Amino acid sequence: MRVFVTGSSGFIGFHLCRRLLEGGATVAGFDGMTPYYDPALKRQRRALLEAHAGFVQTEAMLEDAPALARALAEARPDVVVHLAAQAGVRYSIEAPRSYVDANLIGTFNLLEAARAAGARHVLIASTSSVYGANPDLPYRETDRADWPVSFYAATKKATEAMSHALAHIHALPVTVFRFFTVYGPWGRPDMALFRFTEAILQGRPIEVYNGGEMWRDFTHVDDLVRAIGLLIDRAPPGPEGRGDPVPGDSLSPVAPWRVVNIGNSAPVRLSDFIDILEAELGRPAERLMRPMQPGDVPRTWADCSLLGHLTGFCPATDLRAGVTDFVRWYRGWNGV
Ligand SMILES: NC(=O)c1ccc[n+]([C@@H]2O[C@H](COP(=O)([O-])OP(=O)(O)OC[C@H]3O[C@@H](n4cnc5c(N)ncnc54)[C@H](O)[C@@H]3O)[C@@H](O)[C@H]2O)c1
Repeated sequence: MRVFVTGSSGFIGFHLCRRLLEGGATVAGFDGMTPYYDPALKRQRRALLEAHAGFVQTEAMLEDAPALARALAEARPDVVVHLAAQAGVRYSIEAPRSYVDANLIGTFNLLEAARAAGARHVLIASTSSVYGANPDLPYRETDRADWPVSFYAATKKATEAMSHALAHIHALPVTVFRFFTVYGPWGRPDMALFRFTEAILQGRPIEVYNGGEMWRDFTHVDDLVRAIGLLIDRAPPGPEGRGDPVPGDSLSPVAPWRVVNIGNSAPVRLSDFIDILEAELGRPAERLMRPMQPGDVPRTWADCSLLGHLTGFCPATDLRAGVTDFVRWYRGWNGV
């Protein structure tokens, strides 16, 4: 199988490419190596992938439509997994235009080029943030997701809608994933686990929002990429040729398109998460209490039954084991 992965030097893209390569796939990566966080970390991930004979990567931006179309035409992929994006809730207050460029224009370019290259299934990363002010927990794919509270979430919701229209018009099978707080080795330096680990080990204080009364459905990256690998083979059927309905399915009535949550279904309170990290590091954190941040939601919680029905698998790594795994990697990587 030939797979084209955007964001291949990013946190999730790196893990997904590695898993696909180990499973015998040929992988063409695409990444602009953006400076949102230190590109040195992206170069390290890329070097590890380039040790595999079945991997090549194009370094270019999604906004460069001709470069993206060329890379896809050369790769002739069976499947496209689109992970490249401007991520991050808080940065979208500071730099909203970068989200328009990467997420809206970039995803449009990707969908057009994937179709032209003859891909038979396109899988696109969205986020639990699209549930926004939806009050119903746990979040189900069939819940309303119409009230984004960050601009990041608004652009991700827009990519979901764009992909639905193109799936309908061109009969192109599209799976949209909604990821819930992904963590693990080679993680993102802007996310809480990485930032807190770094600060605690350096004896710096950490900022704790909403008095620690926030819940996140932390999902280990190994579980996440396993779920993606399984969903690659579950292209949504078009309106004709559908078999028995899958319980809770989010399939579009008119297009080969569905959205699937990938989360741990076990939300953890932020203050408990910090307790677990302190125990693992063997050091206390100096906690600076801060109010709730604009754009944040107090709770996320995935209902993963659709993923379970489709693949027979649901993420279930316990946060303690996952934090141990992350800290072991962090200490080795950073020599501390
Ligand atoms: N990590 C999480 O907890 C999480 C949660 C929900 C959704 N997501 C989504 O999952 C996807 C992957 O996230 P990640 O955590 O690996 O992030 P990441 O920032 O580590 O990876 C994204 C990669 O895309 C590249 N990129 C960004 N903009 C680009 C552009 N315009 N052109 C070309 N390349 C570009 C970056 O260089 C980076 O390597 C993103 O779509 C993100 O929105 C992540």
